[in-house]
Amino acid sequence: MEDLKGITRPESIDWDSWTKRWDQMQERYLAERSERFNQIVKIIKATQPEASRILDIGCGTGSLSQRLLKELPNVELHCVDIDPTMLWITESLKTKFEDRIQIYRLDLRDNSWAKNFSLPFDAVVSATALHWLNACQLNTLYQTIGQLLCSGGIFLNADHVGSESLKIQKYWKACREKLRSIENNNASDDWDSFWSSYSKALKLDVNKIHNHLFKDREGGPEDGLPLSWHVDRLRENGFSMVDCFWRCNCDAIYGGLKE
Ligand SMILES: C[S@@+](CC[C@H](N)C(=O)[O-])C[C@H]1O[C@@H](n2cnc3c(N)ncnc32)[C@H](O)[C@@H]1O
Repeated sequence: MEDLKGITRPESIDWDSWTKRWDQMQERYLAERSERFNQIVKIIKATQPEASRILDIGCGTGSLSQRLLKELPNVELHCVDIDPTMLWITESLKTKFEDRIQIYRLDLRDNSWAKNFSLPFDAVVSATALHWLNACQLNTLYQTIGQLLCSGGIFLNADHVGSESLKIQKYWKACREKLRSIENNNASDDWDSFWSSYSKALKLDVNKIHNHLFKDREGGPEDGLPLSWHVDRLRENGFSMVDCFWRCNCDAIYGGLKE
């Protein structure tokens, strides 16, 4: 990541407008995105009423972190992402939440990323990010998350999940397409137009930055690994009460408690 040293956060950008554009773009693909965030907040409130430290991995622009900071006034959020251009938007949350939010540019594929944290977390959360890792990286990550959580702490991941059955997967995808067609706001950006407009606003070639950051990327399947795979790996890595807490066709919130 050394090559990004010369790249700095530009001034005089309306960061709030980019937060909104990112959220609208993501909602095009995830009709139930906001509901997923609500569910994560509710589960944390119910299971970790004394929570004070939460880690958001693959935080992007900080959409989920922002929701947690608003709804849980006693928590501090530690936000991790590899992409500096995403974290520049997250940084704008500091104006509102000051030292309740800490930001780290780290690569979750790098086995040493967790060394940046010395105190345990009450919850580790993530949204639509971990399918960017392959099965081997994800298994290692689950082990690391277990080490970062306090005893009884919770891991919750909202992400794409596949099915072991192609027929069921086909059914889920058809349901997702139907929901998208009902809920879609075609006035918002799609993935490509968001990045092309954001690049122009930053006066940077974000594609080039992404090619550099993800040059060795061997991600998992775009549709996600089967839910049963995640459940098995979490149990093997010392999580208990592993469960699917919510599901809407191709997306789910799953996780478990650190024993
Ligand atoms: C689709 S975005 C989701 C962002 C945010 N969680 C949300 O729900 O809006 C996926 C995020 O995962 C991040 N990401 C992907 N691979 C990563 C890695 N190896 N280490 C850290 N972050 C990563 C990307 O940079 C991106 O910000």
